[in-house]
Amino acid sequence: MSTLQNKRILLGVTGGIAAYKAAELVRELRRLGASVRVVMTPAACEFITPLTLQALSGNPVHTALLDPEAEAAMGHIELARWADLTLIAPASADFLARLQSGMGNDLLSTVCLATRSPIAIAPAMNQAMWDASSTQANIAQLRERNVAVFGPGSGEQACGEFGPGRMLEPVELAAQLALQFSVQALTGKTVVITAGPTREAIDPVRYLSNHSSGKMGYALAQAAIDAGARTILISGPCALAAPERAEHVAVTSADDMLAACLNYAPGCDLFIGAAAVADFRPANVVEQKLKKTAADTMTLTLVKNPDIIASIAALDAAPFTVAFAAESEQVLDYARAKLERKKVDCVIANDISATGIGFNSDDNAVTVIERSGDTTFDRRNKMQLAHALIALLAKRLIG
Ligand code: C5P
Repeated sequence: MSTLQNKRILLGVTGGIAAYKAAELVRELRRLGASVRVVMTPAACEFITPLTLQALSGNPVHTALLDPEAEAAMGHIELARWADLTLIAPASADFLARLQSGMGNDLLSTVCLATRSPIAIAPAMNQAMWDASSTQANIAQLRERNVAVFGPGSGEQACGEFGPGRMLEPVELAAQLALQFSVQALTGKTVVITAGPTREAIDPVRYLSNHSSGKMGYALAQAAIDAGARTILISGPCALAAPERAEHVAVTSADDMLAACLNYAPGCDLFIGAAAVADFRPANVVEQKLKKTAADTMTLTLVKNPDIIASIAALDAAPFTVAFAAESEQVLDYARAKLERKKVDCVIANDISATGIGFNSDDNAVTVIERSGDTTFDRRNKMQLAHALIALLAKRLIG
């Protein structure tokens, strides 16, 4: 990825524990060929020293609005003009509020007011602060003004809590930033993605399902949106929030998912089946809750579910169709067989017997199998993998 070559990135660092990651971010941006200048708020300087970011960026760090010496070297207006893109990472709740309301009470907010460059923010804060209605309202308004919002990620926080509010990792931020400069590969294309598990009802309170988290399908939907596609995400029940600009169609059973796919897939350009569709469903859904009986065993009769992806691949005007193959042995052989059996254009195979990747984890490693040959993607974060996969699929669509 060399899309940051010769780009001028103005990095604003605000006060929060994630400020320590700004050091790695500067390195990553420079590694991708960008020139970086850093503006820090006074609070940011409490977490990481300007000297560190000066050494890594190779440029003096700017910290104060009313500093005659700094203004003589490169004033706030010149800084604002210099930038091809302004990235605030981490962006604290306080800074988001000030950016939203157009304040210019420190150097960074003034530069943001004065710049004509696009602005991107990488929020980082405690999960309750992120969920606060005022923060959410600020984010919504900033988005409306075309500020790109990267993340935040979800998980363990420095304060010991769990939830949304973690700054995205520097590598991921740099990748998202590079996307802002790339010609969007899927502009004008429509992508339909299935994700998550399906639930097959046994009675009104019980169902058969699986452990699919939906993470890979949701990451692919985000990557398709980032590439400029109209993106329809048909998802079984899972705990993830749908990407902001996805058209989210919530379904429950394999039958529902098939109906939604048959509704949206005809005429689309790319169909990706990332859902873990239940292969079987109970033959009869009992209308009343099943009662415990004296018997020690109980027999459920199952019938086969429709193969959604094979149905889409068999359409007269079938889109470019991509299946996933989660296998625990003979991964590539089984995946190749699936390519022919389902008559799809491509199978993305992942080895679910390997620890730390695949089902329910944050990372994945896959081999993309096509009739023309295989492409392997080593272990990486599902979001990074999704961007790489969408880039490859975009090449297939566009040629
Ligand atoms: O047949 P198998 O489940 O191994 O194939 C996995 C691929 O097929 C995935 O892309 C999955 O979304 C899709 N699939 C489907 N409908 C089914 C079963 C699997 O679309 N009933």
